[in-house]
Amino acid sequence: MMIKLLKTNPGFIVQSFLVVVIVFLLCGIASGSSSLNKNFMPPPNKLSSSFEESPGVCPQSRYTRTVSYLIYHKKNPLEPTPENISVGEVLYHHHRAPLACKDCHGEKGNGKGSKWGGLDYPPRNFSCGITMKEIPDGQLFGIIKYGSPGTKMLSYDGLEDEQIWQLVVYIRQLAQ
Ligand code: HEC
Repeated sequence: MMIKLLKTNPGFIVQSFLVVVIVFLLCGIASGSSSLNKNFMPPPNKLSSSFEESPGVCPQSRYTRTVSYLIYHKKNPLEPTPENISVGEVLYHHHRAPLACKDCHGEKGNGKGSKWGGLDYPPRNFSCGITMKEIPDGQLFGIIKYGSPGTKMLSYDGLEDEQIWQLVVYIRQLAQ
């Protein structure tokens, strides 16, 4: 069979060789691009270079993108009055849509909630003043409202804007 093919088509060996080379090249490109993707993890706007897998470290790396310019520069219209803090506290612990903030961010906001386990990026540690003071009010507001794409931070767009600002007031006073 081979000899017959060789006789009728002398270019057979060259052709087969080329096919093998092309297959090898394609495999190389496929595996190369998947390892490239790994190199591009984690996503943009990460503030420090080390990837901590454990929750609650301080300072903490951030894997959340920056919200749009207009939201980022919003100022919290609410004062940190005892009333706003306590409404924020209730929302933080009890508003389930579908999970409460404390389930991931922890009872004390230290990022060690019971559901943090297995998350690719640990939840924000609100008790970490060094990290929190770098994040403006508008950014906190935007991420609570729209979620943080690429992480498990959910969108809470069912909340009124005022309730989100009350959550921001509450979160702010957890920082030490
Ligand atoms: C399913 C777990 C989960 C729940 C529930 C959750 N979060 Fe998050 N949250 C995360 C993760 C993960 C991140 C991303 C951390 C990072 O960027 O490194 C995050 C980030 C954030 C940030 C950080 C924004 C920034 O720019 O750094 C804020 C603010 C926040 N969450 C507030 C809340 C509030 C308020 C609630 C409840 C209304 C809530 N989260 C519920 C997991 C959760």
